[in-house]
Amino acid sequence: MNQYEVAVIGGGPGGYIAAIRSAQLGKKTVLVEKRDVGGTCLNRGCIPTKALLHSAEVYHELSGAKSLGITLGEYSFQYKKMAKRKDKVVKQLRSGVENLVAGHGAQLVRGEAVLTGPHTFRVGEEEFEAERIILASGSYPASIPIPGADQPGVLNSDGVLALEECPESVVIIGGGVIGVEFATLFRDLGKPVTIVEMLPTILYGNDPDVCTTMTGVLTDKGVTIHTGAKVLEIRDGLTCVFEKDGQTLEARGQVVILATGRKPETASLGLETAGVETERGFVAVDDELRTNVPHIYAIGDITGKQQLAHVATAQGVVAAHNAAGEHRKMDYSAVPGCIYTTPEIACVGLTEEKAKEAGYTVKTGRFNISGNGRALAISCPDGFAKIVADEVTDRVLGCHVVAPHATEFISEAVLAIRQGLTVEQLGETIHAHPTVSEALMEAAHDVEGLCCHKL
Ligand code: FAD
Ligand code: NAI
Repeated sequence: MNQYEVAVIGGGPGGYIAAIRSAQLGKKTVLVEKRDVGGTCLNRGCIPTKALLHSAEVYHELSGAKSLGITLGEYSFQYKKMAKRKDKVVKQLRSGVENLVAGHGAQLVRGEAVLTGPHTFRVGEEEFEAERIILASGSYPASIPIPGADQPGVLNSDGVLALEECPESVVIIGGGVIGVEFATLFRDLGKPVTIVEMLPTILYGNDPDVCTTMTGVLTDKGVTIHTGAKVLEIRDGLTCVFEKDGQTLEARGQVVILATGRKPETASLGLETAGVETERGFVAVDDELRTNVPHIYAIGDITGKQQLAHVATAQGVVAAHNAAGEHRKMDYSAVPGCIYTTPEIACVGLTEEKAKEAGYTVKTGRFNISGNGRALAISCPDGFAKIVADEVTDRVLGCHVVAPHATEFISEAVLAIRQGLTVEQLGETIHAHPTVSEALMEAAHDVEGLCCHKL
């Protein structure tokens, strides 16, 4: 029997960080991974999408070279090479993570862990025992129960990221985060893209200004967007048939992408044997990330909180400390959500609507990116920065930004919300000029009706 103080099951951005931190805290730690360390994020999610998006963005920007005073000759893209570059980035980071896990002293075991009791699990023929167990098995793409969803050419995000050739046309079912990122990727490569979304807007749940602006940006790029659409079937020849406003419509693509959410990977863990309870398939945890079995913790996508890599990582740190005897709590009040469209979307905290629902008297400020010097200098005038604040305390409650590089400067707003800063404090913070981040400061001034660059 292999004995450990802490066992982590699943080596994604939640699990490998939990294992490293646990080893840093002096615990004899094992990390079990059945596929590749880095999990969905590194191998089939965050990193490969952003690598491909970068290639596509550069390609797309070349079409505007003339307006920048640059004359180009013939140019084209080779998707196979883009895919190879993406694989190289992933491989480099993956071997970095493997080195970090080993270097920090956690033992990496490859194989599928199945719980055999509250303190024990099996990996193949080998038996393991651990005082504390951290479950971090992540999630997998959800399908939808419609005829034709399992035919060749219907791809989930794993399938899209494994493509070696660029599809000539794309239909995307689901206008959520994955849907708009893939729409940006293939549209920037010049391919016809159609999004079919069942809800009244793409990116539902975001600030309505974000949804409207991004609908406009994607439509202007040439993406066809159908919202309020009920998908009926995917017919042979990859035709998506859907119903909208009482009409039956069709969208045809060389591939159909299912981007309809992700499900927790819990079925094969043997949770029942260990007595761990689930709710709608997700592992239920308290704010110390404990399951109903006090020495078993769960983190990341299986917990049903925001399915984001940085949430999994933050939970991994908290769970590792708690498995070492502390009582840290998770705080989800300032979790940034970033979407890598062009321009980028970055949001944190409450929307105006949610703030009102929570009982705040709300005040807001807004600054359009078209008034920002840096944005114009780099030819990216679309978007806005919006601040939602509490009228009574002046505290910043939420920030919603559509802007170039928005994902890079949202951390400023995260810090402001996390530290309870006021709009006045954000507004009086000197921002470097010219930067797109000045839009946040301008929005703060606008909350007070004192924005100098706005009439
Ligand atoms: P995962 O990353 O899913 O890792 C779980 C690991 O556990 C896997 O490696 C799996 O093989 C292993 N495992 C499962 N069961 C067992 C078992 N029984 N034994 C051993 N190993 C097991 N999030 C962001 O924050 N930013 C982004 O830009 C972003 N982009 C994304 C793009 C796409 C296309 C997708 C699909 C997701 C994206 N995400 C993004 C979401 C992000 O990838 C997930 O939220 C994150 O990976 C969750 O981390 P995790 O550690 O909970 O699980
Ligand atoms: P999502 O929940 O963001 O979007 C799924 C969309 O599909 C929703 O808008 C939903 O209404 C729609 N949908 C579901 N069933 C449908 C049907 N039958 N017909 C039409 N539309 C349908 O989930 P998504 O985009 O699959 O992403 C999964 C997770 O991965 C998200 O939770 C997200 O947090 C994470 N992710 C994060 C990224 C980032 O942070 N940049 C990038 C990509 C994914």
